Amino acid sequence: CGIIGYVGDQSALDISLQGLRRLEYRGYDSSGIAVVGAGELRTARRAGKLANLEKLLAENPEPDPMPGTTGMGHTRWATHGGPTDVNAHPHIDCTGAIAVIHNGIIENFALLRAELEAGGHELASETDTEVVAHLLEVELAGDPDPDPDPAEVSHPLAAALRRVCQRLAGAFTLVVVHRDFPEVVVGARRNSPLVVGLGEGESFLASDVSAFIAHTREAMEIGQDQVVEARRDGVIVTDFEGRPVQNRRYHVDWDASAAEKGGYPYFMLKEINEQPTALADTLRGRLSPQGAIVLDEERLSAQDFRDVDKVFIVACGTAYHAGLIAKYAIEHWTRLPCEVEMASEFRYRDPVLDRSTLVIAISQSGETLDTLMAVKHAREQKARVLAICNTNGSTIPRESDAVLYTHCGPEVGVASTKTFLGQVAACLLVGLYLAQVRGVLYGDEVAAYVERLQRMPELVERTLGRLEPIRELARELADAKAVLFLGRHVGYPVALEGALKLKELAYMHAEGFPAGELKHGPIALIEPGLPVLVVVPSPRGRANLHDKIVSNIQEVRARGARTIVIAEDGDVAVEPYADHVIRVPETTSLFAPLVTTLPLQVFACELALARGLDVDQPRNLAKSVTVE
Ligand code: G6P
Repeated sequence: CGIIGYVGDQSALDISLQGLRRLEYRGYDSSGIAVVGAGELRTARRAGKLANLEKLLAENPEPDPMPGTTGMGHTRWATHGGPTDVNAHPHIDCTGAIAVIHNGIIENFALLRAELEAGGHELASETDTEVVAHLLEVELAGDPDPDPDPAEVSHPLAAALRRVCQRLAGAFTLVVVHRDFPEVVVGARRNSPLVVGLGEGESFLASDVSAFIAHTREAMEIGQDQVVEARRDGVIVTDFEGRPVQNRRYHVDWDASAAEKGGYPYFMLKEINEQPTALADTLRGRLSPQGAIVLDEERLSAQDFRDVDKVFIVACGTAYHAGLIAKYAIEHWTRLPCEVEMASEFRYRDPVLDRSTLVIAISQSGETLDTLMAVKHAREQKARVLAICNTNGSTIPRESDAVLYTHCGPEVGVASTKTFLGQVAACLLVGLYLAQVRGVLYGDEVAAYVERLQRMPELVERTLGRLEPIRELARELADAKAVLFLGRHVGYPVALEGALKLKELAYMHAEGFPAGELKHGPIALIEPGLPVLVVVPSPRGRANLHDKIVSNIQEVRARGARTIVIAEDGDVAVEPYADHVIRVPETTSLFAPLVTTLPLQVFACELALARGLDVDQPRNLAKSVTVE
């Protein structure tokens, strides 16, 4: 879900709507706004995309349907209760004075709800969130503290929220406004994102900085289990017990234009085209004058990296595929065993971890709860954790021992494109770094790899310039029932990523397989006309690998498949068996995913557009999933 809270001098309605437009990628099942002004609390909410809420507000005959300069907005990715008007946030208490918005899941809500209902509260929705509004009502109605601590500087609403948070289990970001307290908006967080924007005479609370970047680039992190009281002139942050805490402030190094479409009809098209720059930004400045690789925030010593005897990579979705590619490079360069695991499975499997295990957590948002929980589990088991992340100030890097930021800029399209390239490049750097500190590769070998990597943005640019044929093909195949993707070596994770893109964007049944595994089952799926995309390794690469995949192409073609082959320039051996050949430039085998992924992204995007779908906000998905 996406959250924005505001207190200042501007219209809270305008600020909230603007913020929600920027946050809509975090969920778009329903949206809502609450504004406090002129002694009233007004709310508006609607199922469906933000446009539905905007329409509702536009239908209101009053010139300013929600007057006031304190308020908040929410865009929802449904968990408890379907995406209806009634379940949309904000949720209100019995008195109609308190409004609450929430991201996450309150795991003990059923118990709390029963307790509230027994006490005479009537709850209107099926959501877990509504209990918070009623619990706050109870707290605020209770007797004032008979013995207040003179050092206590908190607002009563913040104090009440702290007491409520102590009773909640699960993950949550909460933001609250109160009819009688227009001077504050308060927020709280546990395992779910919340950042503060510090403006001139105005303050913001939001799921991420994009919500307020048009107003201020000064931000502050909010730590785990903290409550923030935002006022016009600044914020007060405490832990759940009321002890004041000092948090890191930072300046956001991109501006509002980076999170706009810049003339493209869809963010995804813009982000696909930004890939050469995004990749260059990940790789910039990574070699020190001494030839060593530079990470961003290194709280681990070179000795810690030398002591590593095993690597685990944990991630979800597209980031998981970046991890699968990294495994090939890390094992090859470092000779360390490397396992890649979906973050949601990791901690429940009780993996074998100790202080010489390096866990690499890959996450664009830095907020994915499955990945965060894997990180926490790894650290509890004393493993060292290195985060690869695109979002400064997010939770996963803060909970890790070291960080490598991908610096790709904001990614708004729900399906990852440019940050996937950044993640792959960052993983390759980590592999080289490990090989370097462990003395498996010499400094000059590492420098030669890094230099070759730094030439990749140019090859990405060249590849993007020649993808018209795959666009045409995608339009032609818009009515296909299913598509298979095959690959070998690093081409296998690329095949998985191509299939995921097609599922996410075009809602089409798509599967990726290792080409060699085909004969052990999936070949039964081949029927006449079925499109099969094959990611072909370089003929100059590993012995026999190329020949083997050429045989696999023949096997599917013999059974009637329509073969679409992604092959390097000059690879003529594939031609007799390919119905279509899409060319990519020659690269080092381990770097090939940085170019072979591009035609698959474009294929999925174009096919979805041909089906009339919204490629930025595919159904049922959210970009940042902060529930387990
Ligand atoms: C969600 C998104 C995916 C993304 C995954 C991991 O499921 O829909 O596109 O790959 O989360 O996100 P992360 O921010 O951790 O990279």
